[in-house]
Amino acid sequence: MNVKVLTAFSGHGQTMFKVRTGIRLAWGALVFTGAAVVAWLTFGWATPPVASGSAAAAVAAAAAPWMGEPISPVPVRMALDERKVALGERLFSDPRLSANGSVSCASCHHLENGGVDHLARSRGVDGREGTANAPSVFNSGLNFRQFWDGRARTLEDQIDGPLQNPVEMANTWPAALQAIAADPQYRASFKSIYEKGISVQNVKDALATFERSLTTPNAPFDRYLRGEVAAITPAQLEGYRLFKFIGCASCHQGVNVGGNMCQKLGIMDDYFVAERTSGTADLGRFNVTGREEDRYHFRVPPLRNVALTAPYLHNGSVPTLDDTIRLMARYQLGKDLSDAQVQQISGFLHTLTGEYRGQRLQ
Ligand code: HEC
Ligand code: HEC
Repeated sequence: MNVKVLTAFSGHGQTMFKVRTGIRLAWGALVFTGAAVVAWLTFGWATPPVASGSAAAAVAAAAAPWMGEPISPVPVRMALDERKVALGERLFSDPRLSANGSVSCASCHHLENGGVDHLARSRGVDGREGTANAPSVFNSGLNFRQFWDGRARTLEDQIDGPLQNPVEMANTWPAALQAIAADPQYRASFKSIYEKGISVQNVKDALATFERSLTTPNAPFDRYLRGEVAAITPAQLEGYRLFKFIGCASCHQGVNVGGNMCQKLGIMDDYFVAERTSGTADLGRFNVTGREEDRYHFRVPPLRNVALTAPYLHNGSVPTLDDTIRLMARYQLGKDLSDAQVQQISGFLHTLTGEYRGQRLQ
């Protein structure tokens, strides 16, 4: 619904007036669904989502101190099957899932490093370079789709990508299953959890369940939203106000501060002409749909833990957060920010760094 509202003003040449109107519309609509999503997340993934308009959603909305804000806190508790989480965690860091036993999911998604590899573009089996920057796996379960161009609908579907990609793990499912089945510990774990034991579906289920456990609650900003006013500084709060006021929050919003819609890179000015970037990955959702109107459209990336995930953008072409903020203001909103304003927004973005298993991410 918010996607529609926003795509209505995502063409070329629109005015700030339209952008602002779109923002207001989108916020209004979001407050309500936001409450429903929060209710759903609070009650756990295992239970079906609370439908919009239900009494439970209304109660959650009334009780939530962050009501009216475009961003809601990451849920503190995830109701997940701990046996699957443990099994998925083992698979996630197991290089035997790759063709030559050298690369695991964790090779590119370092959990002790914000869930990324800090390379502009990731390197897989035999050091082969890919075409995209590795997004963080933290909070990936909160995104409406996976990948920069949103080509996978679920975390389960996403796994086909890296496992079979010739520049990532370069493997096939039969070979990966064989490697897993050769390990008696895996055989026992799968058998105790799944009726059918080791299968593609069950490997995906375990990995995706682990990924859903990779949430980072209790960021200073979330504590602020929950009513702990001193959790962020007055300067950081000013940065948040500016982030909302100039319109960043029209795209980067919801529980993951992004990850819930696709938008064009270069709304107010043609980014790819000006910056002379090229390569198929730059075409974004055009690669998925083949539709001209999807050229240069990307899933709006989540900004949780963004201070830790340099370099930035789908192609890793921007080394610093400050430059990314400046670029966003210019190409997405038609604004040139002063250095002080960039610092303020950066200060706010630093408050989005959360905790994993009780430890603040580094
Ligand atoms: C060689 C490095 C590499 C390996 C190995 C790798 N990934 Fe990734 N991962 C990436 C890159 C690069 C992307 C972005 C690709 C794109 O969007 O086109 C990505 C995207 C993702 C995403 C989507 C996140 C988002 O916000 O859209 C998830 C989830 C993910 N990987 C999980 C995994 C899992 C699970 C494995 C193991 C089965 C894995 N990755 C193995 C580099 C890697
Ligand atoms: C019209 C929608 C829209 C607006 C408004 C917008 N962004 Fe973005 N933002 C995007 C998209 C789409 C991308 C991904 C572009 C890419 O990777 O090529 C992005 C990327 C980013 C990134 C890089 C994230 C990463 O992991 O690489 C940051 C940081 C960011 N935006 C911050 C901001 C800030 C700060 C503002 C306000 C000044 C803002 N954005 C305004 C859509 C938007």
